Amino acid sequence: MSDAPEITPEAVDAAVADALAAIAAAGDTAALKAARSAHTAEGSPLARLNAQLRNVPNERKAEVGKLVGGARGRVTQALAAREAELAEAETAAKLEAERIDVTALPQRARVGARHPLTLLQDQVGDIFVGMGWEIAEGPELEHEWYNFDALNLDADHPARQMQDTFYVDPVARHLLLRTQTSPVQMRTMLTRDLPIYIVSPGRVFRTDEFDATHLPVFSQFEGLVIDKGITMAHLRGTLDHVARALFGAEAKTRLRANYFPFTEPSAELDLWHPTFKGGARWIEWGGCGMVNPNVLRAAGIDPEVYSGFAFGMGIERTLMFRSDVKDMRDMAEGDVRFSEQFGMVV
Ligand code: DAH
Repeated sequence: MSDAPEITPEAVDAAVADALAAIAAAGDTAALKAARSAHTAEGSPLARLNAQLRNVPNERKAEVGKLVGGARGRVTQALAAREAELAEAETAAKLEAERIDVTALPQRARVGARHPLTLLQDQVGDIFVGMGWEIAEGPELEHEWYNFDALNLDADHPARQMQDTFYVDPVARHLLLRTQTSPVQMRTMLTRDLPIYIVSPGRVFRTDEFDATHLPVFSQFEGLVIDKGITMAHLRGTLDHVARALFGAEAKTRLRANYFPFTEPSAELDLWHPTFKGGARWIEWGGCGMVNPNVLRAAGIDPEVYSGFAFGMGIERTLMFRSDVKDMRDMAEGDVRFSEQFGMVV
């Protein structure tokens, strides 16, 4: 063949030099594979030189064969060496990419936070337990009688209307979601021995809007004392103590005449504190009064012998003044970032 390369040391060296350059330039195993096929496979300069060996006269075969064989050997060795080098580099890169820090602390489940309403409710409970009172509980699904009738609310009282109260089907069973913690008053009078000193925190329900100052589900704490010789002075002293325990030594309370069917006389309870946002001022905190003799009689307690007082406050409202929460919805939405701001202490 006329275009067959002649086997000369120069041609062999040139083919080897090209092959070694390509091998050295191969940056990864895929490039090396391409260099291998270009410089050693059939049709490559070295393979074609090798094929020419058969045309070499016998007396020069050994010498020329050695030249070509040595060239192929060098290329094969260079390929093997580069292959080992690339494999090592690729393994090292993979190890680096997949490296893990075995000394790093594992990602555990995220720590939550107790809800500020729960914390405040517990603190309210502690204040009363500290005075020797007991904690009473009542059901959230309540009988209409405890929620209204037993509290001296007659059948026409506006709070009984559908727009305030969640009634539960069938209506003929007279079950509702309690609208206040006051039904615990009658439950307590009917089940506990006298005298009674209880506080009852819990959830209440009203068909209110869900906005910055109203929630259809909120919480209250109810207080009830029935004993001999209880007067309004005891009520006032208790309320002042609770206000100071919750808001600090400078807090004080004030009563404004009002009407509640289950107390007589009844009062609106205001709270004053010098550091309230917007300046020292009175804010409405709850309702209270002396237990109405009709309520005592309904519980089988003789109003000539026993008297008592009661009060009810909103826990969300208390948290609003206390921690300057502007929007009640933050208390209902359950975002842990809200709770975390309060830590474990309210
Ligand atoms: N239950 C009343 C309410 O939710 C608050 C209240 C007023 C409770 C007077 C009382 C009380 O115990 O004596 O608006």
